[in-house]
Amino acid sequence: MKIGICNDHAGVEYKFKLIKMLRERGCEVVNYGTDTEASVDYPDFAHALATAVEKGEVELGIALCGTGNGMAITLNKHQGIRAGLAWSTEVGRLVKAHNNANVLVLPARFIPYRLASVIVRTWLDTPFEGGRHQRRIEKMSVK
Ligand code: RB5
Repeated sequence: MKIGICNDHAGVEYKFKLIKMLRERGCEVVNYGTDTEASVDYPDFAHALATAVEKGEVELGIALCGTGNGMAITLNKHQGIRAGLAWSTEVGRLVKAHNNANVLVLPARFIPYRLASVIVRTWLDTPFEGGRHQRRIEKMSVK
């Protein structure tokens, strides 16, 4: 599986740890984030990841910023993106099972890395349930 990952200055450390974990799992990872803790603007990186997912250059994406909200709000401006913010393992499961999130967003300043890692693995391993949830995600877009 090919996964894109992006981050602002708040998510640099988690980004590198997640890349290592994902590569150890056999994933190909493309880095769309900043690699230093110099202050940057999260939309620049969110748009790069969203465009890559929409074009099919990567199958799924992971985005990290301080609260996760800046990334999630920006990512969800893209029609082809369903970005979901997760702060617990159960929310990470549900955001795939029910919302079929193609980008997982994590609040790097509010959860420990170990939890972030478990959330990512749970989201990747959880299948979308379809059925009534498919009907609901089809109603998300503004016509
Ligand atoms: C950066 O200081 C911070 O604003 C950003 O990481 C994020 O939390 C925004 O939503």
